Amino acid sequence: MSHNTFGHLFRLTTFGESHGPAIGCVVDGCPPLIPLEAGDLQIYLDKRRPGQSRFTTQRQEPDQVKILSGVMPDTQSGQQVTTGTSIGLLIDNVDQRSKDYGEIKDQYRPGHADYTYDAKYGIRDYRGGGRSSARETAMRVAAGGIARKVIPGVTIRGALVQIGPHKIDRQNWDWSEVDNNPFFCPDAKAAAMWSDYLDQIRKSGSSCGAVIELEAQGVPAGWGAPIYGKLDSELASALMSLNAVKGVEIGEGMNSACLTGEENADEMRIDANGQAQFSSNHAGGILGGISTGQPIVARFAVKPTSSILTPRHSIDRYGHEVEIRTKGRHDPCVGIRAVPVGEAMLALVLADGFLRHRGQIGASPSWPFAKA
Ligand SMILES: Cc1cc2nc3c(=O)[nH]c(=O)nc-3n(C[C@H](O)[C@H](O)[C@H](O)COP(=O)(O)O)c2cc1C
Repeated sequence: MSHNTFGHLFRLTTFGESHGPAIGCVVDGCPPLIPLEAGDLQIYLDKRRPGQSRFTTQRQEPDQVKILSGVMPDTQSGQQVTTGTSIGLLIDNVDQRSKDYGEIKDQYRPGHADYTYDAKYGIRDYRGGGRSSARETAMRVAAGGIARKVIPGVTIRGALVQIGPHKIDRQNWDWSEVDNNPFFCPDAKAAAMWSDYLDQIRKSGSSCGAVIELEAQGVPAGWGAPIYGKLDSELASALMSLNAVKGVEIGEGMNSACLTGEENADEMRIDANGQAQFSSNHAGGILGGISTGQPIVARFAVKPTSSILTPRHSIDRYGHEVEIRTKGRHDPCVGIRAVPVGEAMLALVLADGFLRHRGQIGASPSWPFAKA
């Protein structure tokens, strides 16, 4: 299986399966002399870790990351720093229960990757989905922690804004609420309502989808590139590469089709410091594939978890029709743990965008320009 690498100058290659001994990655292209400890990455992994509330899978994985290479103590400060060489990261899998999957070994879960992996490779790792399991996303989160250190002026955060049909009230948006509930929800009222909704879904053995919103503040104007390297196309591709993602929007997204040109215009003025100022951000911080200096805003939708207890019609690998129920431990709504994963993908895209911008342009031109 190819295509395990993501990024251009800041590159991530992941390896490992859900029920193998470990998962890991190699991060290539990280600049030298950046202070880096495993604890710096662990904070993000702890947000994604399973089994933290009744609303996520009960698989118990401590997800303790080890840094295997690419760092050493700085002779001056004694602090552990990156050396500019490839950084190897490893997380042991400790709570595999392959026997949970015995019943579906030869059967295809509707909505999962079972049929397509078999159709393509003639073999599939049925134990927890193997490589198609979102276990792989732990390495994206760890690598995203390194990416954040490459762009320290950028603040990246994410929130769950919809579970099933239930949207937050955007008037209630409070970033400080995100860490106060098990959903990463910025609306305390919605979080209370979601609790009851998701309990019903979970107890009935069903599942539901969700929408996650991401924001990056502090990205200067100029990152990204036109045409095939558009920052928005790279971000959309990065988010779409996540398991269960079925929709991505940047800025106004699908709703921009409903706006007139006047409504959608992010009007420009000059601020008190003589810099460009926008009256709104329908563009989501990207124009012509290049960052505008406004917050970058993206949303992505995840589908309902396909592993459900309710019997569904399916087929097996020997050409028979079957009825399938998926036991084992699953997230009733994968959107919750997708929040830190989405943040990591945004960090990876932006770190790569920053290094490429620096590679081609060096220091950005000083704006406004002097008139000749
Ligand atoms: C954080 C996260 C956790 C997930 N957990 C599960 C799970 O417990 N059970 C499941 O069937 N799918 C889960 N998924 C989704 C599957 O990995 C995904 O649907 C499957 O690989 C098929 O790929 P596709 O949905 O991208 O087409 C999860 C996805 C994410 C992002």
